[in-house]
Amino acid sequence: MVTSRAMAPRWLATLVLASCWLPTALAAGYPVSTTAEIKDSARKLAYDLMLYYHGNETGMIPGILPGPPTEHLGDYYWWEGGAMMGTYVDYWHLTGDASYNDVITEGMLHQTGPNEDYMPPNHTASLGNDDQGFWGMTAMLAAENKFPNPPEGKAQWLALAQAVFNTQASPERHDETCGGGIRWQVPPTNMGYDYKNTIANACFFNLGARLARYTKNETYAMWATKTFDWLWTVNYIDHADWRVYDGGHVGHNCTDVNKAQFSYNVALLIHGAAYMWDYTNGSAVWETRINKLIESILRDFFPDGIAFEVPCEGKYVPGAEGGCTADMLSFKGYVHRWLSVVTKIAPFTKAKLRPVLDKSARAAAAQCTGGATGRRCGFYWASGAFVDPAVDKTSGAGEAMSVLAAVSSMLIDEANAPTTNATGGISKGDPNAGSKSRGAVEPMAPITTGDRAGAAIVTILILGSAVGTLGWMSFGD
Ligand SMILES: *[C@@H]1O[C@H](CO)[C@@H](O)[C@H](O)[C@H]1NC(C)=O
Ligand SMILES: *[C@@H]1O[C@H](CO)[C@@H](O)[C@H](O)[C@H]1NC(C)=O
Ligand SMILES: *[C@@H]1O[C@H](CO)[C@@H](O)[C@H](O)[C@H]1NC(C)=O
Ligand SMILES: *[C@@H]1O[C@H](CO)[C@@H](O)[C@H](O)[C@H]1NC(C)=O
Ligand SMILES: *[C@@H]1O[C@H](CO)[C@@H](O)[C@H](O)[C@H]1NC(C)=O
Ligand SMILES: *[C@@H]1O[C@H](CO)[C@@H](O)[C@H](O)[C@H]1NC(C)=O
Repeated sequence: MVTSRAMAPRWLATLVLASCWLPTALAAGYPVSTTAEIKDSARKLAYDLMLYYHGNETGMIPGILPGPPTEHLGDYYWWEGGAMMGTYVDYWHLTGDASYNDVITEGMLHQTGPNEDYMPPNHTASLGNDDQGFWGMTAMLAAENKFPNPPEGKAQWLALAQAVFNTQASPERHDETCGGGIRWQVPPTNMGYDYKNTIANACFFNLGARLARYTKNETYAMWATKTFDWLWTVNYIDHADWRVYDGGHVGHNCTDVNKAQFSYNVALLIHGAAYMWDYTNGSAVWETRINKLIESILRDFFPDGIAFEVPCEGKYVPGAEGGCTADMLSFKGYVHRWLSVVTKIAPFTKAKLRPVLDKSARAAAAQCTGGATGRRCGFYWASGAFVDPAVDKTSGAGEAMSVLAAVSSMLIDEANAPTTNATGGISKGDPNAGSKSRGAVEPMAPITTGDRAGAAIVTILILGSAVGTLGWMSFGD
């Protein structure tokens, strides 16, 4: 069966995509028509993604995917390991398959660093607020999903999320440049310290919103509101069409807005806004923000109802095929996971989001026809054809993670909404977590060359100026 799928001509994949009513027997790629099919497909996708992970093998480092590329150790920066752990925390929550829970717990605990705040000295060179934030959001997710608690004596999920939040709320990370906001990088010596970007602030906003909802502590909500307002004030969120831009430099008071758009920025804001909507008992302000941002993401990133990473995926930017970095190749997965959860927390969004997410997930599953197994996944969901991740110069973990996320999130209706401390949450917090790292954000050894700074946005900066703006000009037509 797998072989015949692998040999199916491209026109078949296209036909299947165009005609969702075709019987499953004809469909290429993973079947996802019934709950049983989705679970079985997700199980195989989860198994295949694990093949990229070596953190539980002798002599390897738990929690990370092979990398970083700057040290020629593999395609993946530190943060993507945290994102992958989160994908499995959701996978378990959505499917009930606990096969990977021990591996994930081990990885998440290994990377907390000595002060239990996701600032491990090994990864200082790629320590952006966004990188730390992704690990913090995975810890928060573990608390919300009631992922099994770490052993007593170890850092607990909620406390880890609070630690990340507290380090980012501390005065060292906030200055008066641009009227507020946090910077991209944590150590002042990292390249990109002079950039205040959306993703770093969106992670901080998101954690604040979720901690507010989980603990009912108003301080978190105050920070979340303040951070969203700042993103609005500096025009990183377009006041006319709610496009969400990448960032600006403190040397220009953040007025040199880099208009590159990436799907995860807007998705993360929608996700955090849904938590704020819930926390505020359904405030009209947050509801409007959610609706406008959903309009924006569906218009710009689901052009045919299928997730499409416009600035680098190629269709609207001729010649940009193969233009997505390893980081960007994983964004669709977060978009699917976050927007699915939004439908649970802010149910008024469900009618708009669920049909699109379902169609997009079916397209994701349909193109997994590659490799020796005949079920390897690529990145080009909307094209309907498997394209080997080698064209994007990666081994394929981001691509595999995104499809796992999209397919397992199809089960969101049956899953429990994220818990809070008052609705069954079992994670123990510590409001003062993270205080040990105060004033200690300097790197262990000086980092002198810019090319050691890792993380998502080095490449975004480059691509953003070269391709992003152009992409939007063509797309806007
Ligand atoms: C690592 O974890 C995976 C997934 O649970 C498992 O299949 C594999 O055998 C483990 N490897 C080792 C060396 O323990
Ligand atoms: C840091 O690097 C050392 C040496 O490679 C390794 O043993 C350790 O597990 C790493 N820690 C983290 C958090 O990556
Ligand atoms: C810098 O930007 C902030 C936020 O937009 C604004 O409030 C402030 O007045 C600006 N400062 C200068 C010197 O232009
Ligand atoms: C609420 O959160 C703030 C910020 O982390 C913290 O300082 C304060 O102690 C918390 N309050 C309670 C009651 O936990
Ligand atoms: C939401 O409603 C609850 C119950 O009526 C109330 O205790 C809480 O203070 C409200 N929250 C906000 C942020 O207004
Ligand atoms: C969480 O709930 C428990 C009771 O279920 C309570 O003892 C604890 O104080 C609560 N924690 C917070 C941060 O509200």
